[in-house]
Amino acid sequence: MADTIGTVILAAGKGTRMKTDTPKALALAAGKPLLDYVIQSVKSFSEKENLTLDIGVVVGHQKELLIDWLDSLTFKVKTAWQKEQLGTADALKSCFHDLPEFWNYTYTMIACADTPLISASEFHRLFQELKSDSVLMGVAATFSTSQPTGYGRIVRSSKGFHIVEEKDATDDERKISEVNSGFYIVRTDHLKQVLNQISNKNKSGEFYLTDLFQDQYAVKAVPFSNETPFLGINTLEQLSHVSDILRSQKLKQLMESGVTILDPRTCYIDHAVSVGVGSILYPFTTILGKTQIGEKVMIESGCFIKNSRIENGAHLLANSYLEEALVRSEASVGPMAHLRPGSDLGEKVKVGNFVEIKKSILKAGAKVSHLSYVGDAEIGEKTNIGCGFITCNYDGAQKHRTKIGAETFIGSDCQVIAPIEIGSKAFVAAGSTITKNIPDGGFGIARSQQVIKEGAAKKFLKSKN
Ligand code: UD1
Ligand code: MG
Repeated sequence: MADTIGTVILAAGKGTRMKTDTPKALALAAGKPLLDYVIQSVKSFSEKENLTLDIGVVVGHQKELLIDWLDSLTFKVKTAWQKEQLGTADALKSCFHDLPEFWNYTYTMIACADTPLISASEFHRLFQELKSDSVLMGVAATFSTSQPTGYGRIVRSSKGFHIVEEKDATDDERKISEVNSGFYIVRTDHLKQVLNQISNKNKSGEFYLTDLFQDQYAVKAVPFSNETPFLGINTLEQLSHVSDILRSQKLKQLMESGVTILDPRTCYIDHAVSVGVGSILYPFTTILGKTQIGEKVMIESGCFIKNSRIENGAHLLANSYLEEALVRSEASVGPMAHLRPGSDLGEKVKVGNFVEIKKSILKAGAKVSHLSYVGDAEIGEKTNIGCGFITCNYDGAQKHRTKIGAETFIGSDCQVIAPIEIGSKAFVAAGSTITKNIPDGGFGIARSQQVIKEGAAKKFLKSKN
């Protein structure tokens, strides 16, 4: 019969040392939850080894948040509930309690949710080690580090090895630099024998999963030469360190794929962001969430872009802020423009400096070049909006829409009081406050008449000469 493997990811812990409210497994590293990285690596391992994928995630602290997030994944992950966080061995027991089908697998792989740099290759090596020796009951991945504080120490003897947690270690044991990574593959038969025997008689009063490994058992500590894949996150400082590594990996991958990053030290790009070939990123750009950037896009310094789509050949000038915006090909935005959620800029649209757009569609070739607010509006193709335009979309209680047709000209310093419609090829004179609809081809002017009094200026000037 073919070997089968079930994977249990432990994610029920409080993450007390993080000092934050969110469950540690959902803490973000380079914009992605820690647990997501571990799940993706398990998935890729199963695909490469041609193994059936079955993942059980043990949830506990703020379990609803974790379950909601797991439900949003495109493939199904099972969950088990650890009611009280009594330790990692107790977490594994909860999995077998809620998901008894996991007893049927030949092997059980155990991973911690707080170790996002792990990849399929570490799982692969661990699995090979276990399979290569039919007597072996389990393997634990270990590594040596100059900073072992916080990790369980690997205490080797002539008989075998066992793991001592930081709190329980003697001074001599604390000096050991080989530590436990928290990743194990164990024959499920071994778990049947020993899991229930694990006690909580230690300084933390917790059931330690590390007690699966005892000198007298046929188990092996498998040392890995590189500690990076196993870096665990227990504090915000460790989160920031690991996020840094993930971001550097991302920038390297983008540069290898043909993206010019002028100063990788100052570009902050989340893991899920995509950037097309030939795009250029200036220093100090921040690109977050699920943002997609097309090919040959130029992004100047100081731009902040979140969950947006920027199509081929677009140009974002310095210090522009975009959130949930769509910028179609060859459009130009900024400098210092603000595209709020629902901004949809058509091809070759120009949005200039100090312009704010919200929930508005600007069709191809439309221009809003300077100092304007466009909210809840639709602006037709090639319409030109002059400097200092405002859609007065809010009456203090409700938002109202503005619709302007194609090839219309709106002069500078105009306000339109929504709801309002201005047709195509219309013309609005500068300085107008428009309160009534203007039909296609219509001319609208709404400003008071100018008065000229010859020679009267001196009444108002300081110097009366
Ligand atoms: C654990 C190991 C330690 C190892 C380190 C590697 C134990 C006893 N210690 O310590 O030897 O060097 O990982 O990073 O296993 N969890 C639960 N339920 C609980 C407690 C924890 O699901 O009751 C989960 C946590 O959410 C986390 C994982 O188990 O994902 C590890 O817990 P954590 O508290 O981070 O253990 P460490 O102290 O890091
Ligand atoms: Mg940990």
